[in-house]
Amino acid sequence: MRASPIGIFDSGYGGLTVFRSIADQLPDYNYIYLGDNARSPYGDHSFDTIYKYTLECVEWLFAKGCRLVILACNTASAKALRTIQQRDLPAKYPDRRVLGVIRPTAEVIDQYTSTKQVGVMGTRGTVNSKSYLLEINKFFPDIQVYQQSCPMWVPLIENNEHLEPGADFFIKEYCGQLLQQSADIDCVLLACTHYPLLMPKLKAVFPDYINVLAQGDIVANSLADYLGRHPEIEKKLSKEGKRAFYTSGDPAAFDEHASIFFGEALKSGKM
Ligand code: DGL
Repeated sequence: MRASPIGIFDSGYGGLTVFRSIADQLPDYNYIYLGDNARSPYGDHSFDTIYKYTLECVEWLFAKGCRLVILACNTASAKALRTIQQRDLPAKYPDRRVLGVIRPTAEVIDQYTSTKQVGVMGTRGTVNSKSYLLEINKFFPDIQVYQQSCPMWVPLIENNEHLEPGADFFIKEYCGQLLQQSADIDCVLLACTHYPLLMPKLKAVFPDYINVLAQGDIVANSLADYLGRHPEIEKKLSKEGKRAFYTSGDPAAFDEHASIFFGEALKSGKM
């Protein structure tokens, strides 16, 4: 089998914020990004639907030659990763790996809080799965986690309405609901890869002592560490610095909107 690219998957555009950090930190590898825009957002879908969609996309990336796929989507990591890792990979793809974004974030969250009170903002799917609650408490039983679902944020971002004044109501609403749960929260994790686009507005809404945390660099550090610990996988990766982008939706629409997530213009193809 030929040297393979790293696959990066999200329900739509959000994974591009993670891919940005990965591409900056590990620029030499070849990557294939896939956004399932035709079926996004995933946030309110059932477990079975998110698992089915995610597995289809992972299998598509496998068919493109990826041996290692990163689910750069919290909702897919919360709802599909475990089943894919525990059932599908051993049965059908024993030499492939799929990694998510929740565990690497949970592992380092203690570095960003002194009060040990952490807010987690995500889609309904991520929040209802309680994945962050469980993962963070596995590593740091003394950290108190407060969750807040923000169902309007992904639709606002996907429709490019997030920086308009009309978005302010829903930004203040969810931030206020989170802070009502505890006055001692000093770290707010953006547990959805779309949310870093709201950073300027969130920084204006949250008090200065709150650390508003995006995941991109955390996931990139964790991937670098993983590749260092797994030379058997690393040596099979192609290293020509090539990047390809695919969407299940309309490539022209994807290209127009994607640059605000990725920070540079790109050209995608149809899945
Ligand atoms: N960007 C995704 C996440 O990190 C999900 C957005 C969605 O499709 O609802 O959760």
